[in-house]
Amino acid sequence: MHIKPVVDDIYRLSVNIEDTNYLFEGIWPIPHGISINGYLIKAEKNVLIDLTQDIFSFPQEFVQQMGGVALDIEDIDILVVNHMEPDHSGWLREFCKRNSKAVIYCTKKAVPLLNAFAGVPAERAIAISDGMILEVGDYQLQFFDTPNIHWPETMMTYERKRKILFSCDAFGSYGSIDENAIFDDQVSSEKHAFFEQEALRYYANIVATFSPFVLKGLEKLSGLEVKVICPSHGIIWRENPAVIINHYQRYAEYCKGPAEREVTVVWSSMYGNTKQVLNLVIETLRKRDIPVHVFQVPGDEIGYILASAWKSAGLIFGMPTYEYKMFPPMAHVIDELQVKKVTNKKVFRFGSYGWSGGAQKDFENKTEKSGWDKLGYYEWQGAPTDQDKAAIQQELHTYCDALIEFTS
Ligand code: FEO
Repeated sequence: MHIKPVVDDIYRLSVNIEDTNYLFEGIWPIPHGISINGYLIKAEKNVLIDLTQDIFSFPQEFVQQMGGVALDIEDIDILVVNHMEPDHSGWLREFCKRNSKAVIYCTKKAVPLLNAFAGVPAERAIAISDGMILEVGDYQLQFFDTPNIHWPETMMTYERKRKILFSCDAFGSYGSIDENAIFDDQVSSEKHAFFEQEALRYYANIVATFSPFVLKGLEKLSGLEVKVICPSHGIIWRENPAVIINHYQRYAEYCKGPAEREVTVVWSSMYGNTKQVLNLVIETLRKRDIPVHVFQVPGDEIGYILASAWKSAGLIFGMPTYEYKMFPPMAHVIDELQVKKVTNKKVFRFGSYGWSGGAQKDFENKTEKSGWDKLGYYEWQGAPTDQDKAAIQQELHTYCDALIEFTS
């Protein structure tokens, strides 16, 4: 990958994690990779905004890219640390060993993390105040506290003259970047749709828990004119930054509900008795013109389920009883949805049991504080009869009526 100009003497440095076995944050599969971007301003004092993770040969790649504008580590005078999560700060320890002069600008909350993660003493840092402006030659950098987008110490940097927002995790997405298509106006319409979808999955996996803070952050930044968004993951938005800003506004507002008039169906089956009504569920929803997204567990990956569930106003779980409880892989999904604060949903459950029930009671207990409106459930012993199927259909129509009203 080569260094790429953004505007004037502002450049993008970037690497892609392309190892398909790699789990982002140690949890999330990235079958299409992810980019980690930093930004370099070549001025009378050279500024580097965010670093890279210290894996593979990423630090060496950043250095090599900096060489493309005749700069080396020792030439950096100012290091802006928008966020201390190690995907952006992993290289900090080695960077500071090789560059003893760079002044670090970060939030007050980030200062102790400099030492905790990278052994960098507080004396090297200047803790910004919200809205503070730093003049660097022809560049005016303004720092904004944006806590919990993604960690409590996170901030964003705004270049006032060119109206560029260096947003770190915000407005980012999964997906490796082709070095010949780094801007929104350089990617094909298919790739554009891909990055929008991967922005949703990234949001649901990484940021969704903090959605109330995203809404506050968007409100704080709403007074800024933003011509270019330079995130630390994904493409740069310069043709139409409003696209990703509006998506973020929408994603964040889903925490208050309702989300879209769609249903995410997550199902499990041990011997096929719960599965027997799956098609009936899907067909009934589709007959009511409700888009359905179907996931099986175990099998489908939780990161994808989260993205779908975040965007859907309705959730339907199909799972059997297993030893008086919910089928364990589904219990994990239910836990994860609540950890990520997937809330304000219309919910229905169906499932078979053998010698005894218990899944429904377990489900009720586990979701007591979920914020889900549990509209009903249907259970049967063994295989479903025609009467069971008719009863489920009846229940589902009632569910659809409530969902449609909820999303109207
Ligand atoms: Fe890309 Fe929260 O780090």
